[in-house]
Amino acid sequence: MNKFLTSSIGRKIVMSLTGFFLIIFLIVHLGINLSLFWGPNAFNEASEFMATNGVIQVMQYILAAGFILHIIQGITLELKNKSARSVKYVVNKPSENSSFSSRNMIVTGILVLLFLILHLKDFFIQLKFNAKGGFATDYDLVTNLFKSPLYTAIYVIAFVLLGIHLSHGFQSAFQSTGTNYNKYKACIKNTGIGFSILIAIGFSAIAVYFFFK
Ligand code: HEM
Repeated sequence: MNKFLTSSIGRKIVMSLTGFFLIIFLIVHLGINLSLFWGPNAFNEASEFMATNGVIQVMQYILAAGFILHIIQGITLELKNKSARSVKYVVNKPSENSSFSSRNMIVTGILVLLFLILHLKDFFIQLKFNAKGGFATDYDLVTNLFKSPLYTAIYVIAFVLLGIHLSHGFQSAFQSTGTNYNKYKACIKNTGIGFSILIAIGFSAIAVYFFFK
């Protein structure tokens, strides 16, 4: 097992399986967050369900493990690729051979990780361990943070970076695990791009809406 996880193909498969899992998490998370548009009651009820449901509580540990594995394997793959390519190609036109998002996975990944640390500090930790940061309800805490222009801007930039990361990550996850990848390549690529745009716009809409509200 250990040998598989540290082999190059093993690492790729772990990246894609944890990537799929994180994609599902993002869909669920966005779905719950969209209830913010329905007002305090809807969001506070959804949030209460997430905080008390037994299955969700167990899933939180699996989610944390998924994030950690994805990050460790991603950084290790990048370092290994770099050391294997210590002599640069004489002729290399990256923009003709690969997309911007595929060449910048490690950069967008690390920036999204920085966002995640800020996000967990201000939302998750406050709600779980700090009496909702002094606010009466979950809704008040969340909507109050988006009163700051800087905070809202950081969030929107992070969502665009997440979208760029996903636009390559989505198809890459299929490529690493899919047996019939070539047949559906174009369809998977377009679905991935559509999905990434939806995620970036969906999360950004919440931040921008509450900034102007
Ligand atoms: C407008 C955008 C977002 C809002 C308003 C938001 C809101 C929240 C809230 C309120 C929590 C605490 C949930 C609880 O413990 O009851 C949370 C947790 C979390 N968020 Fe977000 N979130 C947003 C975007 C994102 C994005 C883009 C990611 C991933 C890249 C993310 C990852 C997480 C994670 C990993 C947790 C902790 C696990 C959990 O409680 O489910 N969030 N978020």
